[in-house]
Amino acid sequence: MTDNSLTEESRAANPTATRGVLPANLVERAGCPFDPPSGLRERRGRGAVQPLPLANGAAAWLVTGFEEARTVLADPRFSADKVRHREAMSLRPHEVADLAAGKAPRAPAVESRQDGLFVFMDPPEHTRIRRLLTGQFTVRRMRALDKRVTEIAVEHIEAMRAAGTEADLVPAFALPLPSLVICELLGVDYADRAEFQERTAVSLNSAAPPEARAEAGAALHAFMRRFVADKRARPADDLLSGLIHDADPPLTDAQLVDIATVLLGAGHETTANMLGLGAFALLEHPGQLGALRDDPGLIDDAVEELLRYLSIIQLGVSRVTTEPVTVGGVDLPAGATVVIATPEVNRDERHWGDPDRFDVRRPRASHLAFGHGIHQCLGQQLARVEMRIGLRELITRLPGLRLAVPAGQVPLRDEMLIFGVHSLPVTWSWSRSA
Ligand code: HEM
Repeated sequence: MTDNSLTEESRAANPTATRGVLPANLVERAGCPFDPPSGLRERRGRGAVQPLPLANGAAAWLVTGFEEARTVLADPRFSADKVRHREAMSLRPHEVADLAAGKAPRAPAVESRQDGLFVFMDPPEHTRIRRLLTGQFTVRRMRALDKRVTEIAVEHIEAMRAAGTEADLVPAFALPLPSLVICELLGVDYADRAEFQERTAVSLNSAAPPEARAEAGAALHAFMRRFVADKRARPADDLLSGLIHDADPPLTDAQLVDIATVLLGAGHETTANMLGLGAFALLEHPGQLGALRDDPGLIDDAVEELLRYLSIIQLGVSRVTTEPVTVGGVDLPAGATVVIATPEVNRDERHWGDPDRFDVRRPRASHLAFGHGIHQCLGQQLARVEMRIGLRELITRLPGLRLAVPAGQVPLRDEMLIFGVHSLPVTWSWSRSA
């Protein structure tokens, strides 16, 4: 997910940055770019639930154990509604969303409960919106997307090939693929896609000047409002029209704008980074890449292993206790912030043998890359389709695919809540028949 209350303070400066409240070494990668940040590694052996000192003095705990994380995420005493349950915050979730959308924060916190930021809601508010959305992620719609994902992937790879034998995989492939897929899913008109993509790219680009991001975010918000109005007037066979049609009582415009914005943010940056970082990890593990080329049937296992091994949502899943709770033998007071250290959780040696090894043939076991419990990723099937098709087409259509720069020069997004690469310069062999 893209939002996390723990990081709100730092987001005032940069909505998707993690520096500020969290100790920096909890997100910085000193050694192997695919291993958990050094500060998390150092904490190994200090317990599956351990105190976490925060810069703002708030009481927080870090969960590094797999079973303990699953327990927290399944227990209703751990709330996702950080407005209601934690006072010690400088920004409210809806304000974070405003910042992400490039707007000045709105005032009253209570307002957010009527809107559609269901990621920060608990039952019963969360349940209603989640159910409505689950009803839109139909098998038929997902099947249709399968075909479109392939077309979009092939189109972009062929454009790269037509332009030469070198490209930056992030803007040329990893970013546009999920962006176009979300357009398809939400029902953005073909003619509006360029505007939608451009605004989104700028508003989510951490390297862009803050004013440009704010401007693009505001334009995106205006775009979403027009988009919702248009869908009300001219419904079609897409997710947003389905939501408008099926919701009883009807969803408000503010809710629909929020829901569309959450889907856009959650479905865009996450998958883009899994594609970019996933390709990087495969290129850096030639034996594993070779196994996948030799046996394309391994792709589903490879996708699950990449999700586990890379765990890109660094510290982005957090909850607040609504009452005193004991977890993993540790007593937590009411109002405690609990941060799931997903990169470590997914390398818990009590759950996997040799967890630090990247192995596309690893027997499947559940991982927490998509979270767990009632907020478990709504778009996980879609993300899997995009990764499976995207990575498959990349390695089959670009013969001899390799990095165009030394691995140490690939710029990492370690300061971001969602880890990945800022760019991935690659090269391949020219081949007429590939
Ligand atoms: C929730 C990860 C792709 C939509 C989550 C959560 C995680 C996650 C960890 C749980 C957050 C929490 O419990 O606080 C990922 C990863 C992805 C991905 C790693 C890519 C590889 C997508 C896509 C979509 C999406 C493609 C969109 C269609 C959502 C939504 C939620 C969510 C709407 C909130 C669900 C709720 O609160 O009930 N995701 N996600 N995600 N994800 Fe994803």
